[in-house]
Amino acid sequence: MASYEYETHEYDVVVVGAGGAGLRATLGMAEQGLRTACVTKVFPTRSHTVAAQGGIAASLSNMGPDNWQWHMYDTVKGSDWLGDTDAMEYLAREAPKAVYELEHYGVPFSRTEEGKIYQRPFGGHTTEFGEGPPVQRTCAAADRTGHAILHTLYGQSLKNNAEFYIEYFALDLIITDGKCTGVVAWKLDDGTMHVFTAKMVVLATGGYGRAYFSATSAHTCTGDGGGMVARAGLPLQDMEFVQFHPTGIYGSGCLITEGARGEGGYLTNSEGERFMERYAPTYKDLASRDVVSRCMTMEIREGRGVGENKDHIHLHLNHLPPETLHERLPGISESARIFAGVDLTKEPIPVLPTVHYNMGGIPTNYWGEVLNPTAENPNATYPGLMAVGEAGCASVHGANRLGSNSLIDLVVFGRAAAIKAAEVVNPAERNAPVNTAAVDAIFDRFDSFRNANGSTPTADLRLEMQRAMQADAAVFRTDKTLAEGVEKMKAIAAKMSDIKVTDRSLVWNSDLMETLELANLMPNALATIVGAEARKESRGAHAHEDYPDRDDENWRKHSLAWIEGNDVRLDYRPVHLDPLTALEDGGIDLKKIAPKARVY
Ligand code: FUM
Repeated sequence: MASYEYETHEYDVVVVGAGGAGLRATLGMAEQGLRTACVTKVFPTRSHTVAAQGGIAASLSNMGPDNWQWHMYDTVKGSDWLGDTDAMEYLAREAPKAVYELEHYGVPFSRTEEGKIYQRPFGGHTTEFGEGPPVQRTCAAADRTGHAILHTLYGQSLKNNAEFYIEYFALDLIITDGKCTGVVAWKLDDGTMHVFTAKMVVLATGGYGRAYFSATSAHTCTGDGGGMVARAGLPLQDMEFVQFHPTGIYGSGCLITEGARGEGGYLTNSEGERFMERYAPTYKDLASRDVVSRCMTMEIREGRGVGENKDHIHLHLNHLPPETLHERLPGISESARIFAGVDLTKEPIPVLPTVHYNMGGIPTNYWGEVLNPTAENPNATYPGLMAVGEAGCASVHGANRLGSNSLIDLVVFGRAAAIKAAEVVNPAERNAPVNTAAVDAIFDRFDSFRNANGSTPTADLRLEMQRAMQADAAVFRTDKTLAEGVEKMKAIAAKMSDIKVTDRSLVWNSDLMETLELANLMPNALATIVGAEARKESRGAHAHEDYPDRDDENWRKHSLAWIEGNDVRLDYRPVHLDPLTALEDGGIDLKKIAPKARVY
């Protein structure tokens, strides 16, 4: 048995992850007087939220008429009718409040002439329940909105005495008698071990984009929360829904914000045709992301891609006034120059749909409480555990997320988790004593990776996984590619027992750290491909060529995936169809959000 000395820390709440959701939860918990620690593997302002460009959706009506019901309708339609109605209502209703709070905390939003928060159009955001023109709903700080939010929330968290454990890698949850009672972390710069006990652990660890070969996600997006939850025997939800952003820079995958099309940019094929006009006659380049990514892929498949290999598409911004580019899109001007060698004032940017976001994740209710669904109670919660942000699945994005609904998800549900924690966490109560047996088991697992002496280097296995996922869980899927993908991924996951780690030190050991991250990516990837293989319909980002239609009768349900060794057990739970507020009390008219064909 491995033996490591450790330091013990006692808090009311421990938040794991310091991106937008983690920081908003940390700030909210600390503001309410809960002793709050935030444990993060990277410096907070380096979390992946820093890369969010285009903005945050809220129906402020600063640029024209808008209301929360229209925002909710767009979110329901964007989700292809897989989102939970209560959670989507909560998101759309709370969004303006959450954005004004950010403004008061100090986020330096871009401004209109009258000094209001500037809002731009984004894909799938409309007026009049999808019958009117596009709406300007996405609140922006130039094209660096995530960066601005992250810095503000970090400063506010410090001001409210939240305590940060920076460059600590969370190894696993401490589970005691069916309840989460803390988390164990490895401090990367000195190799020491730390046991955090808490009345509530909040997972805010982000997505798992790095399960794929080409992603806009940072290399740190390794699904650590999903990995921990899967090892705790809890399910992951709707993992088959992986978003491809239409405009990753060809070759590097670096993001070019949808705000570029919001400001008037457009896509063309090798014939110079603005092909989106053919596929989405009303909203064109501002159709929902899954739709635009599919259309681009079809153009390329049909031989109308651009470049020497006809394998990508052009994004034009060169017709826009230089002042607009300078004022509204300064960051992507730089990205286009650095990553594509393009001066976007003169030439188009080469782009390709690139993995960007995981709609699935750890199932929660709209308070962030983790669900442990059973046949008797599909909404049962797991004590002591919450998940927020991309790590969680509330589920507001369903089968496809609208652009700029991610940042609002982070702050609305980070804030909701804090509101709920203030109700359920009693600071006067003592924490459960350290569960030494559980801690020892976590150290044993850590030690087995530290001493792993197989024949498969971590980087090789990671590449194998990334290539399999990129090839077989792609924009378009078929029974054949998915069945092959499942077999490949099971074999790849089995090779974790043959992993080779060469560095045995405890200090700044990136070989070991990347191996632990790979062990977290693996269950996320497995659940994705197995869930996709099982879903015999097309919905949102899951475009199944053998089943091209949405099948509400059989498949309007959330998938749940339990990882059992290198296998996955699937089950399903119903979508929540009831709103939070009845029509007579000011709620949405349910007839407006009834399922129908999804055209843009
Ligand atoms: O295109 C973008 O700026 C990305 C925004 C988002 O994913 O919400």
